[in-house]
Amino acid sequence: MQQPIGPYLLLEAIEDDIWEVMGVNETTLPEHYTPEFYREIYDNFPDGFLVVKLNGKVVGYEMNRLERGLSNFGFNFVKKGHVVSIAVVEEHRNKGLGTALLEESMNKMKEKGCSEIYLEVRNSNEPALKLYKKLGFTVIRTIPYYYSDGENAYAMAKKLQ
Ligand code: ACO
Ligand code: ZN
Repeated sequence: MQQPIGPYLLLEAIEDDIWEVMGVNETTLPEHYTPEFYREIYDNFPDGFLVVKLNGKVVGYEMNRLERGLSNFGFNFVKKGHVVSIAVVEEHRNKGLGTALLEESMNKMKEKGCSEIYLEVRNSNEPALKLYKKLGFTVIRTIPYYYSDGENAYAMAKKLQ
């Protein structure tokens, strides 16, 4: 899969992209992870580890995990996709890259038989909240003190048809 978005290219990450993804994560989010964690996510769902590149350089990513657990919409046991982290380098935001990443990840999750997608997001993260709501996510609950600085998270989820 290689989807052009203007001058950008949305595609599945290769393992070597992880170093650049880590670089994007360092500059865009306060939550950082070890190389082993990225590798673990990559191994769990390589098709769902997506990057956006500009001239061969990673400017955005979304990494996801396939999980089984209780549905966010009922009491049944389901297969679901977990958005572990998504980010776009600041100067490339508001160009539809976040939207394209999430839409493609939902296709990948559906291909793997997931019936829903979920994530956690800071209560104060307006751009991300707006993006998720635009794509049909709803707030499931608040998770108090979810982040290491004490901020609450919203758990948000969406059914995948
Ligand atoms: N203020 C308010 N809303 C905004 C802003 C902004 N500055 N930027 C984007 N949006 C909203 C808009 O509603 C927009 O939709 P529209 O253009 O149709 O109106 C929508 O977000 C999507 O915009 P995109 O261009 O598709 O998204 P973008 O490429 O800008 O990426 C992202 C969005 C990933 C949230 C980006 O802002 C970012 O990297 N932020 C820092 C990292 C981050 O917070 N990641 C999410 C953490 S939660 C998690 O990872 C599960
Ligand atoms: Zn999470």
